[in-house]
Amino acid sequence: MRKKIAAANWKMNLTLAQGEQLINDVLQAGIKLPEGHEVVFAVPFPYLMRAKALVKNYPGFYVAAQNCYSEKSGAFTGEVSAEMLQSIGVDFVVLGHSERREYFQESNAMLAKKIDLALANGLKPIFCCGEPLEIRKAETQNEYVARQLEESLYHLTAEQMQQVVIAYEPIWAIGTGLTASAAQAQDMHAYIRAQIANKYGKEIALGLTILYGGSAKPSNAGELCACPDVDGGLIGGASLVAADFTAIIGKL
Ligand code: G3P
Repeated sequence: MRKKIAAANWKMNLTLAQGEQLINDVLQAGIKLPEGHEVVFAVPFPYLMRAKALVKNYPGFYVAAQNCYSEKSGAFTGEVSAEMLQSIGVDFVVLGHSERREYFQESNAMLAKKIDLALANGLKPIFCCGEPLEIRKAETQNEYVARQLEESLYHLTAEQMQQVVIAYEPIWAIGTGLTASAAQAQDMHAYIRAQIANKYGKEIALGLTILYGGSAKPSNAGELCACPDVDGGLIGGASLVAADFTAIIGKL
């Protein structure tokens, strides 16, 4: 049975005190995660150890970094390696978020290197893909996403692929309040799963967790998560409010 995941992407928001309060409010909400359901807090680098300490006694709750560098180690001032993240007990790492692709020129090839380093250090990648508005308007979103998968993931072995979570985040839906319709999300998720099946076989594709991200909130999470190929969400704004994120967890 493939995992269902509610992942909170705090991006560059919250002080440590606010983040601690948010995690504690979610943990104290008394959520009973069904078998196979997971909650991931993707927090800024400085908060990772504290977040890990807060969730470590709660089964099904994990922490993620929002990035790692594309080299193993060395003279890269200010950067954080996959090995460093592993050394402090981080479980997942978000890679290829559209904001990093845009603001930091992260290419598919660079992301392939980051994926390799994450896997080599026992981190589960949450690999982000998704098209900009002009591609959606041109109706070439499938080809666009297929290229992201091919150039960043298809060098992986079948065993490595089983460690990867994919997050489909249509760029035009991120932070805009313009959520993809359930049909749009289902169509792309089914397409991604079919592409992975073509490359790695049906069994691995069926076991792949594919998250939706882009203006997901309590009011639409139920419909999105009811789609057969939507296995949860990567949540931005709504994850900054404990009650909203808790409500989304309940919709998995
Ligand atoms: O990584 C999730 C994020 O990009 C979605 O942001 O605010 O539209 O939920 P938001």
